[in-house]
Amino acid sequence: MTTTPPPSLPSDLDGFERSAATSLDPATYRYLANGSGANVTRDANRRAWDQWTLRPHVLRDVSHISTATTVLGAAVELPVLIAPTAMQRMAWIDGELAMARASAAAGTVLVTSMAASYSVEDVAAAAPGGTRWAQMYLLRDAGRTRALAERARDAGYAAIVLTVDGAAVPYGRRRLADGLELAQPFSFPNMLLPGEPLDTPLTELVNDFDPATTAADIERLASWSGLPVVVKGVLRGDDAARAVDHGAAGIVVSNHGGRTHDGCAATAIVLPEVVDAVAGRAEVYVDGGIRAGIDVARALALGARAVLIGRPTLWGLAVDGTPGVVAVLAALSEELVRVMAFCGAPGLDSLTRDLVDPNGAVHHHA
Ligand SMILES: Cc1cc2nc3c(=O)[nH]c(=O)nc-3n(C[C@H](O)[C@H](O)[C@H](O)COP(=O)(O)O)c2cc1C
Repeated sequence: MTTTPPPSLPSDLDGFERSAATSLDPATYRYLANGSGANVTRDANRRAWDQWTLRPHVLRDVSHISTATTVLGAAVELPVLIAPTAMQRMAWIDGELAMARASAAAGTVLVTSMAASYSVEDVAAAAPGGTRWAQMYLLRDAGRTRALAERARDAGYAAIVLTVDGAAVPYGRRRLADGLELAQPFSFPNMLLPGEPLDTPLTELVNDFDPATTAADIERLASWSGLPVVVKGVLRGDDAARAVDHGAAGIVVSNHGGRTHDGCAATAIVLPEVVDAVAGRAEVYVDGGIRAGIDVARALALGARAVLIGRPTLWGLAVDGTPGVVAVLAALSEELVRVMAFCGAPGLDSLTRDLVDPNGAVHHHA
């Protein structure tokens, strides 16, 4: 009798991307991997983390290391949250459901996209014990967003993530046209009003982002749902401060993984400015190009409460579904523990700004 050996999974995030690139069809891989334009911002995100060099402490007791923290009061086992990405069925057959199980197993927060291929209710039911936040845009037809905010609240989501960098770009249309044929029909159950058919086309809905969205809408969303609102897609300290003035409980420093408008500042560059402007009045998170434990440590040293990862979770899904995503998070966690030991930091609180130095090219506005 023979036993099947467990599939050997890659040991780092680049390995997961290489593996996913061979298991996905080329057009799907390109759709998920690409940024907008010439990928300048997507690639700058990644490189910018490397510009922060470590000034590790030695002679500190690092015999016990913990990566645990809280985000908006919820305990997480590692400061790496799962970023909202649309249509996860492109990467794996039961997409968001597999992602939800992985998030709960790893003890982190799942952010479910408004453009998910499963409903917020189905995602919640897939992993009832997990902590979930619901990402949404303010659509011109505000009733759609309001309906989703209420559904998310009723389904036990702990926060709303309001993405504010999507309005300028008709989401998906340009990239979906880029040679991509979807293997199966997609529906967008979180964008629909009660009674609307599941096959309502995506572009018709998302071209309806409300371009008149302002900071005052943060309060509107909070009052609809009664949930804390995290504002995602901020690249400036002044905007972050204004969002917090209007009730934001959290800020995600993000340029959407370089997928909205090419030429944006890398998130690692602007993070300190946002942290300083928020001045502890809200939690600050960051995403974009975080691919190793050292990047997580750098982000936290610069003042982020936690990071989010987008594409690497899709590579994990594409490689092995739930266990693939768990392995991606485990790889980051192991690397983070190692870099914390190296820096003399037994807990995340010890990751302080003096541990990183801008290496020449990095500067930020005061
Ligand atoms: C395929 C894909 C789909 C995405 N869909 C959404 C979305 O629906 N809503 C959103 O707020 N951000 C979306 N994002 C942006 C991610 O939430 C996140 O900001 C970005 O992926 C982080 O960069 P990283 O991929 O380098 O980790 C998407 C990103 C990718 C790669």
